[in-house]
Amino acid sequence: MIQFSQERLAKAQEIITRYPEGKQKSALIPILHLAQEEFGGWLDVPVMDYVASILSIKPIEVYEVATFYTMFNMKPVGKYVLEVCQTGPCMVSGSDKIIDHIKNKLGIKAGETTEDGLFTLKPAECLGACGYAPMMQLGKHYREHLTTEKVDAIIEELRAAAKN
Ligand code: FES
Repeated sequence: MIQFSQERLAKAQEIITRYPEGKQKSALIPILHLAQEEFGGWLDVPVMDYVASILSIKPIEVYEVATFYTMFNMKPVGKYVLEVCQTGPCMVSGSDKIIDHIKNKLGIKAGETTEDGLFTLKPAECLGACGYAPMMQLGKHYREHLTTEKVDAIIEELRAAAKN
């Protein structure tokens, strides 16, 4: 049965109380983030239905938001999602080269996950850090001024972290 841990349920309830009675749908995006964290990094239909039940809204209201924003994953992803910006300023600063390097190094295409389940490559649109191009988002953190050497170091760092 799909259910938040007690800790996350308490957090979800606290978020909902930030909004006036009858406007609990306003808590949808932060609750979807909680759900994605809790249920393996992506939002399966039963998970979205669970979120709808918590907010007392229709499942379609959750689907239309979850499928609109690229920060929500609609299929299983790896432990680490490399979201490499490919919009103009990052592109002219070499994001294509960074993306190609990751594809070659990990043996995956855009949108795919490595067989060991560690890495997903997810090209992204502008992440608001154009001054630090080329860049990627990794979980809650940005990695900036990327070079192929920096990418190699990041991947090694993540492989080491996954072993601990
Ligand atoms: Fe890459 Fe804006 S274009 S962060």
